[in-house]
Amino acid sequence: MSTYKLPLATNFTTKIDNKNTHLITLKNRTGMQIALTDYGARLVSVLVPNNRGELIDVVLGYDSINGYIEAQEQYQGATVGRFCNRIAAGKFTLAGENYELAQNNNGNSLHGGIEGFHRKIWDRQVSFNKQVDFYYVSPDGEEGFPGELNTTVSYELTNNNEIIIRFRARTTKTTVINLTNHAYFNLEGEGHGDSLGHEICIHSDEYLPINEKQIPTGEIAPVAGTVFDFRTPKMLGLDIGAAEEQLIFASGYDHTFVNNQPISQAIASAYSKTSGIELEVYTSEPGIHLYSGNFMADDKGKSGNKYLRYGGFCFEAQHYPDSPNQPHFPSVILQPGEEFNSEIRFKFNLKKEA
Ligand code: GLA
Repeated sequence: MSTYKLPLATNFTTKIDNKNTHLITLKNRTGMQIALTDYGARLVSVLVPNNRGELIDVVLGYDSINGYIEAQEQYQGATVGRFCNRIAAGKFTLAGENYELAQNNNGNSLHGGIEGFHRKIWDRQVSFNKQVDFYYVSPDGEEGFPGELNTTVSYELTNNNEIIIRFRARTTKTTVINLTNHAYFNLEGEGHGDSLGHEICIHSDEYLPINEKQIPTGEIAPVAGTVFDFRTPKMLGLDIGAAEEQLIFASGYDHTFVNNQPISQAIASAYSKTSGIELEVYTSEPGIHLYSGNFMADDKGKSGNKYLRYGGFCFEAQHYPDSPNQPHFPSVILQPGEEFNSEIRFKFNLKKEA
């Protein structure tokens, strides 16, 4: 498939909530191209060369803004916040106050609520054709969270075939924060069947078991001897159908792994033998959440092909789910006067078979 192209910018030009929306494209010196939209500060396309010298789009998504608005929400490519992943029963206590959020997922709060950051129109600034900064000010009390949150998400495309995503935020009141990017990858090309044949490697000795409502039990468990041991590369699909309670609770992988790596070392990677493309993930976040696309909804993607179950996987670098209710997890509290800072790097390599 050498026919992958960036979507048409005009398909992303409209007005929502009285704000103009756009498609912004960046290209590096080696020919890699990415597209972003201010609707949810989303990563729309990532064109990288495969082992046949063709540019293929390795990120799932839609070819128009209406696609993103109308499809069942999968958080495709989105900036997810203010609090990505789950908060049990949508409740937490902070500085003596009780907070209640919308229960938008099986009785829990998921991904910042009904109108989370993934549905906001972000302001934008493009610098030197290599970086896009998106800005959003979330009002105090939005989706039930305390404090006005001034947030910046920057995407930089380097000549080293890396996408560096930097998150920054400031609050006016003590609050909780957990931001991530929710891109789904398929290194054989989006719309190209499932991703179960990808070799996944996660340099983590521990993961967070969940209960039947997909909330961490609080235990930090060794991966050794379990289906969560990806310390040597393993096919995503190898154990996914195992009769293992943890996989049954989530209909596949939807689990957080502990990240003890410094940002200079990849916490995770994925590789497709078919395309020769490898993705490495580097992050300052204490966790990496592997989601195997268990709840994909058969909607049609950019290439017109349907996104089937497991059609893409996500490496969501983030703090641990339900941290506001689990004080032994790394803190997600942001105080006025402090700056929240975090970074995710997606690096694409072309590996030559020996
Ligand atoms: C996250 C969650 C999943 C699912 C997807 C979006 O990865 O952990 O359970 O909700 O987002 O569909």
